[in-house]
Amino acid sequence: MIRLGSLLSLAYLLFPGAAAPSAPQWKFVEKGNSGIVGLEAIVVSPTLAIFFDRATNDPLRTPDGKVAWGALWNLETNKATPLKLKTDSFCASGALLSNGTMVSVGGNIPAAADLNQTGAADGRMGLRLFGPCLDPNGVGEGCTVFEDLDNLKLAETRWYTSTARIFDGSLMIVGGIHESTPFYNTDPVNNFEFFPKKDGGVPRPSAFLERSLPVNLFPRVFALPDGKVFMLANNQTIIYDVERKTETRLPDLPNGQRVSNPFDGTAAMLPLSPPLYIPEILACGGSQVSDTTPVENLSSQDPASSQCSRLTLTPAGIAKGWTVEHMPQGRMMPEMILLPNGQVLITNGALTGYAAVASIGVTTGNSNADHPIFTPILYTPSASLGSRMTQKGLPTTDIARLYHSSVTLTPQGNILMAGSNPNGNVTIVPPGQPGFSSELRVQTLDPPFMSMARPTLSNVPSKIGFNQRFTVGIDIPAGVSTSSIKVALMDLGFSSHAFHSSSRLVFMDAVLSPNKRSLTIQSPPNNRVYPPGPAYIFVTVGETTSTGAHVMVGSGANPPVPDQGIRLAGQ
Ligand SMILES: *[C@@H]1O[C@H](CO)[C@@H](O)[C@H](O)[C@H]1NC(C)=O
Ligand SMILES: *[C@@H]1O[C@H](CO)[C@@H](O)[C@H](O)[C@H]1NC(C)=O
Ligand SMILES: *[C@@H]1O[C@H](CO)[C@@H](O)[C@H](O)[C@H]1NC(C)=O
Ligand SMILES: *[C@@H]1O[C@H](CO)[C@@H](O)[C@H](O)[C@H]1NC(C)=O
Ligand SMILES: *[C@@H]1O[C@H](CO)[C@@H](O)[C@H](O)[C@H]1NC(C)=O
Repeated sequence: MIRLGSLLSLAYLLFPGAAAPSAPQWKFVEKGNSGIVGLEAIVVSPTLAIFFDRATNDPLRTPDGKVAWGALWNLETNKATPLKLKTDSFCASGALLSNGTMVSVGGNIPAAADLNQTGAADGRMGLRLFGPCLDPNGVGEGCTVFEDLDNLKLAETRWYTSTARIFDGSLMIVGGIHESTPFYNTDPVNNFEFFPKKDGGVPRPSAFLERSLPVNLFPRVFALPDGKVFMLANNQTIIYDVERKTETRLPDLPNGQRVSNPFDGTAAMLPLSPPLYIPEILACGGSQVSDTTPVENLSSQDPASSQCSRLTLTPAGIAKGWTVEHMPQGRMMPEMILLPNGQVLITNGALTGYAAVASIGVTTGNSNADHPIFTPILYTPSASLGSRMTQKGLPTTDIARLYHSSVTLTPQGNILMAGSNPNGNVTIVPPGQPGFSSELRVQTLDPPFMSMARPTLSNVPSKIGFNQRFTVGIDIPAGVSTSSIKVALMDLGFSSHAFHSSSRLVFMDAVLSPNKRSLTIQSPPNNRVYPPGPAYIFVTVGETTSTGAHVMVGSGANPPVPDQGIRLAGQ
């Protein structure tokens, strides 16, 4: 059989004047204007993402003429439409519940100077509910944010809090700060609460949050496949048992590496694979500066950490401790995106400085960070230590994505990037002045397969149960080898402050039918391996990945939902 590649090179030999065929490659593509700074991002349907910003002076207006600070971003038309909010969603987090509703959690006191144009209320106890957005046309018609602060609010005021969907489909809400602070967490909320409420709504105090001050904003929190929760803040780590209410201390991040805000590194739980679903945590970047350094001694020129630390969460892995490797450069505020083929994309951020705005001794304009990094890194978890990271073949952009930017994998399979605003409001920095303008340009980073023939899925069930076998149709492009097929079940996460809450990839075993027209897939064994809720199924055949098919994992019932499926040995 003659491969297409050899035919093309033959054509090239016969017609030397013809342009060399360009192989599909990674590329940045500009996709229009977000209307508001895309400071937080979450995919809420196969065609829509939501961006949230601070209630301030964004250009987008709601129909009543007020400034918008929420927007629906259409992934197909690349257009932003305003979303009317009541409370200030500045520096909130969020996630999807087991019933598919998106919840945005916590926020800020709106700036008084902007109140006339926003009409925003204090968002620190905010719970903003959206969807599920069932608009059949996929444009979000009739899909609105629901807020009712009299009857629906947090137990505590929380700014810079983290959120994770746990095994019963509800949200665990971790830490934060009560009031505005310019930098360190000086007014901490050292406890956990849940939505819907547990314990009669009384928050649970946490020694871990106490111990990780003052660099513990936006703790990096992961629902483990046994139902417990791994947490990382500053250089401290624990496993929290939600059911027994106990914290088990794990080894500190090595070499003084600190990865939560305002020393933002990032962390991800690497893809989980059957049959054992052994969780591994990867934490990259941030700072190795002491957390007792007075703010006036910090500079936007201080080098960020290049360290990545990886820990396997088994008794043997914990005894072995963190394994250290290094990115090609230090990164403050990196972002990590799990890709459907099991690789991890590391992107965004700066070579030097810290998170936050105009709050340290030496800034660059308003920015606490400087020297944006314009080229992403690909990390291959299964490669051997020292050869997991590469920037080869990855493109370079000229759009800085610094503080207050967001990035998420989309159901289309590319990576959506928005925001960056190391300023107090929407600000254009004149040329020649130090600092970085507010960024409204949206981009995607497109993997090579976006310009190749891709596998397509059909007859994907809208709902899948746990520990079940189901069959989907697949159309594999001619010439694509089927020797490697990976089926990923993914939560795309909620992107805020260099962290993707609830982001998750669970691989599912699958068998291709002899005629290569259908795949029989085994769903995750239980609701702890994949907390019940929405997901996208991506199938990667060789080098190409399908678009993500939306499914509801579990019954779609309101949280908390009971345990389902079969337990893994040892759970
Ligand atoms: C808000 O609007 C009112 C009425 O137009 C005006 O008197 C007031 O000064 C404005 N406040 C601010 C903070 O701009
Ligand atoms: C973690 O940070 C604390 C507080 O700064 C410090 O005392 C401790 O030595 C650090 N741990 C490691 C392993 O660097
Ligand atoms: C902070 O800077 C001052 C002035 O340069 C210096 O005296 C002091 O030792 C520094 N403190 C720390 C903790 O680095
Ligand atoms: C933006 O922030 C600057 C500096 O804090 C302030 O002077 C200005 O009034 C703000 N503009 C708007 C439109 O809120
Ligand atoms: C999903 O569950 C939450 C928590 O119980 C509830 O507030 C929300 O209304 C539910 N969504 C739908 C669409 O029923």
